[in-house]
Amino acid sequence: MNKKYLVVLLPAIFSITSCTPEDKACLEMFVGGLRPVATDRADRFEGKVAKTTAFCRGGQRAVDFMAFPWVDWGNYYATGDAGSRYPGDTGNAPLSKNGLGVGGALLDLEYQRIELIKFNLFDNNGTYRTYILGNNRKAGPTVKSWDELRLPKDHPNYAQVGGDAPQQVCTGDLIRKRTLTGICNDMLNPLMGSTNQLFARNVEFETTFPEKALNELTRNRHGGRIGLLKPDPQVISRRLFTRAQSHPDACRAGLGTDCDYQRAPFFNVMAAFWIQFMTHDWFSHMEEGHNAAGYENTGCATQLVNNREEPLSPADIARLGCHPEDRIDVGFVAQNTPPGLFTRPGSPRQYLERAPLTMRNTNTAWWDASQIYGYDEISVKRVKRDPADPAKLLLMPLPGKSAADGLYLPLLAASDPMNPQWAGQEATAFPDNWTIGISVLTNLFAREHDIFVDEFRKQARLTPTADCGLRNPASQSKVIRYQDVTPEELYDVARLVVAAEIAKIHTIEWTPQLLYDEPLYEGMNANWSGLIGSSNQELTKILQRVVKTFGKSNDPNFATTWYSAFASGPGIVGIGSKDRHWDITKPASVNGGVNHFGSPFNFPEEFVSVYRLHPLVPDLLEYRDLKGDPNRIAEKVPVLNTFRAKATEMRERGLGNWALTFGRQELGLLTLRNYPMFIQNLPMPRLESATKEIDVAALDLIRDREHGVPRFNEFRRQYGLRQLTSFDDFVDPDPNLPAPARAEQQDRSRVLRELYGQHVCDASKIITDAQRNADGSPINDCLGKPNGTLIDNIEDVDTIVGYLAESRRPHGFAISETQFVVFILNASRRLFSDRFLTSSFRPEFYTTLGLNWVNNNGPGAPVIEKGQPNGHTQPVSPLKRVLLRAIPELAPQLANVVNAFDPWARDRGEYYQIK
Ligand code: HEM
Repeated sequence: MNKKYLVVLLPAIFSITSCTPEDKACLEMFVGGLRPVATDRADRFEGKVAKTTAFCRGGQRAVDFMAFPWVDWGNYYATGDAGSRYPGDTGNAPLSKNGLGVGGALLDLEYQRIELIKFNLFDNNGTYRTYILGNNRKAGPTVKSWDELRLPKDHPNYAQVGGDAPQQVCTGDLIRKRTLTGICNDMLNPLMGSTNQLFARNVEFETTFPEKALNELTRNRHGGRIGLLKPDPQVISRRLFTRAQSHPDACRAGLGTDCDYQRAPFFNVMAAFWIQFMTHDWFSHMEEGHNAAGYENTGCATQLVNNREEPLSPADIARLGCHPEDRIDVGFVAQNTPPGLFTRPGSPRQYLERAPLTMRNTNTAWWDASQIYGYDEISVKRVKRDPADPAKLLLMPLPGKSAADGLYLPLLAASDPMNPQWAGQEATAFPDNWTIGISVLTNLFAREHDIFVDEFRKQARLTPTADCGLRNPASQSKVIRYQDVTPEELYDVARLVVAAEIAKIHTIEWTPQLLYDEPLYEGMNANWSGLIGSSNQELTKILQRVVKTFGKSNDPNFATTWYSAFASGPGIVGIGSKDRHWDITKPASVNGGVNHFGSPFNFPEEFVSVYRLHPLVPDLLEYRDLKGDPNRIAEKVPVLNTFRAKATEMRERGLGNWALTFGRQELGLLTLRNYPMFIQNLPMPRLESATKEIDVAALDLIRDREHGVPRFNEFRRQYGLRQLTSFDDFVDPDPNLPAPARAEQQDRSRVLRELYGQHVCDASKIITDAQRNADGSPINDCLGKPNGTLIDNIEDVDTIVGYLAESRRPHGFAISETQFVVFILNASRRLFSDRFLTSSFRPEFYTTLGLNWVNNNGPGAPVIEKGQPNGHTQPVSPLKRVLLRAIPELAPQLANVVNAFDPWARDRGEYYQIK
C-alpha cells in the first residue's frame, strides 16, 4: 500500500481503540514501510525484524528473543497455542493484535521465500553461467529454456521434440501424461526433472565439499579439522543419536518387547511412513537398491581426546557398541573433473560453473507418484496392470481370502527385475527399504487408483456420449466422450489424479501437521489454493490480474523477484490454467504457468540432507486390532519384523489394522538421541562385509559428506539464517524451560564439545562471504570473540547433527528452522515448476471428473468437516477421504479425526494445543 495512505489511515485506525505502546510500535512499523528485498546475499533478511516491528507483532516477549539466532516470527501473537494470543483478542482479524502476529509471520516467511528464490538456486547442468550472465536477450533469472535440457541425439524421442531445431518443443502424446521418465513435463525443456538428471544445489558451489578445502574461506572455516570420516561418524552416531533405554534388555536393540523413544505428541507414525513414501517418489542416489562398485569404511576408529584425534581402544569400541568392520558400497558420482570457471564483465570474481562433484537423481524429480508407477524401463516392469481392465493396477485377494476381505498388490515374480534382497516383497516400482508402512501406503493409493477408474467407468455407463473433458492435442477440436476413452488413456488420467491427490495431501495435510501453527496452516493452504480463498472472488480476480501483469512486466527481474509473493494470492496450483483463451495447441497456454526462476528444477543435495528423517521411526509398532479393542495395544511389533519380505506376512493382518496402528501411535521426535535402535544395526545381506550390517545413522553423516553438503553453520548462512557462535547456543533460551530439559540440552552441548572439539581462534582469518557482522565487517574465525580465544568448533558440526540439536523451534514445529527454510524454497518450487500442477491442471489432461476429484478430495461435491477446528471451516481432509474410500472399515476410527497425521485418538483441544 502507498505510504501516503498509511500515514493518513493508520492513526485513524489506532485512534478508534486506546493507543497502547504496541499500537505506537505498529504505527512506526507501518510508516517505515516494507523492507526492500536484498540486492546482495550478505544483506539478507535473516528472519530478523526491527525492534518496533517485533514489539508490534509480539510485544515484549518477541523483543526479548530477538538477541538469539532463531527467527523472530515464532514469538509473534497467535503463532503458538492459545497462550500466545493477545489477552482478550479473539479471532485473527487482520488489524487485531493476533492478526498482526499471524500476518507478520506470513510476511516474514514470504520475504524468506523471495530471497531464497533469489539467492539459493544453483543448477549443476551448466546453466548457472546463463543465470549469472543472462543470454543475449534476457537476464539470467528470467530465462525460461536452456540448451542443456534438450533431448540428446541418441534419445528415442529426439525427432519427436524437433531434433536439432533451435528450440525443442514437446508435442503430441508426449505432453498428454506424466511420461515414464518424466521428460516433457516442461514442453520447452524436455529433460528437466527426468530420471538420471543431476541433483541441483541450494548453496554456492564454492561452499560445497568443505572436506576438500578447495578455497581459502573453506580452509579458514574448518582449519583442516574435517574429513569424510572426521569426526568419526559411528562415534557421533553412538554418542549423539542413540535412544536412551531404561530397559535395554527389554528393547534388545529394537527387536524386543519394550523400547523407549522420544515422542512428538501431535504427529503420528502414518506421517513417518508417509514422508519416506514421498522421498521414494522424489529422489534417489541409488540404482536398483545399490550404490557404486567398491566398499568403504564407516568409522568406529577414532575419537577426539582433548582436541587430538586418537584411535579407539577395544574397550572404547565395546563401550560405544560401534562396528569397525562395517563397510558400505560407495556412492555414485556423475562428474568428478574440475568444474570450469567464468567471470562477469567488470568484476574480478571467478564463478564455478558447477559443484566440484555431481550426483544423479535416479528417480524423476516430479511429484508424479513414480514410486508406484515407475521411473525407468526397469522399474516399470514391476508395475502390474489388471489384465481384466488395463486401466487399473492389478490388485488381488490375499491367499485363502476373498475380494471382500480387501485387495492387495501382487508379489514380485521371479521374472521381475529385482535386487535379491527384495525377493518375496510386493511388486511396485520402488521396493527399497520396504516395510509394512510403505506397503500400506502403496496399497492404499493403488486402491485409490482403481476406485477412480471404477467411478469413471460408472460415469461412462451413465453418460457414454457426454464430453469427459479430455482432449488430444493432435485433434484438439474433437470432443472425447466418456465412451471414447481408451484403457491406456484412463490409466494415465488416474495416475495424474493420484499424483495430484498425493501432492495435495502433502501440502495441506501432512505439512500443516508437521508445522502445527496458524501461519503455516495459512501458508500451506495458500500454496495450494491461495491465501484469499474462494470466498473472496473479487480479490482472487485482482490478484490473478496482478500475477498476469507481473508476468508481462517491463522489468522481468522485478517480476521474477516478486512472483512468489503474488502467487500466494490465487495459489500456486492451477496458475496459468484459467485463461479464457487457454488453448491446448499453444505451448504458451499449456506450459505458460510454470516458473523456474531462471534455474531448471531438480532437488538439491541439501534437500536430501534435511529429509534424512530416520528418528521419526519408532523401534516397535504398537499394533492395534479394529475388531478387538482399538484402544488397547494388542502387541508390540518390531519394525524390523516387518522389513522387506516380512511385510508380506504382516499385511495379512489387514490394511485397516495397520492404518489404525500407525494412526494412533506418536512418531519419534526429530532430535538428538532419538534414532531407532534397529537402524544403527540394520541387516544388509547384499553387502560384502564381515558384519553385513550398517549403522544408517552414521551413514547419514557419511553420505552428506560425500555429497558435499556444507556443515551446519555455513549451511545456515547460505540459506539466510543467523549463525551460531558456540555449542551453548543450541540450548533453548526460554527462561521457562523445565530444569530437566535444560540439563539434557546442556549435556548435549557438552558432548558436542567433546566430539567436535575447540580451537584457539585467529581473527585474521575470514571464514565466509555469505553474511557479515552487524557492523558490516567480515565474519572471521573468532565469531565475534577476541582474537586468540579458545572457541567451539561450531563450524565443523555436521548439518544433520546441527538441525537435530536445535531445541528452539516455532510452536508445533516437528522439524527445526534450518530444515524448514530448505522446505520453504523447494516445496514451493516443485509446484511452480510442474506443468501438471499449474497451467496443465485442466480437464484436457485430468478429465472433468479427475479435476473435480482432486479439487473436492473425491467424487461429488466437497464434504465439509464438522465444527471449526482451530477456527477454520474446512473440507474433510484429503487423506481422510482416501482412507474412508479405500479402507471403509476405518470409518468409526476416523469419525473425530481432522487431520489423518494427528494421532487419531488425540483431543485437539483449544487453538493449536500440542499435548
Ligand atoms: C523404516 C525404515 C527405514 C529404513 C530401513 C531406511 C533405510 C535407509 C538406508 C539403508 C539408507 C541409505 C542408503 C545409502 O545411502 O546407501 C537410507 C537413506 C535415506 N533414507 Fe531411509 N530408511 C527408513 C526410513 C526412512 C524415513 C522414515 C525417511 C524419511 C524421509 C527416510 C529418508 C531417507 C533419505 C532421504 C535417505 C537418502 C536417500 C538418497 O540418498 O537418495 N528413511 N534409508
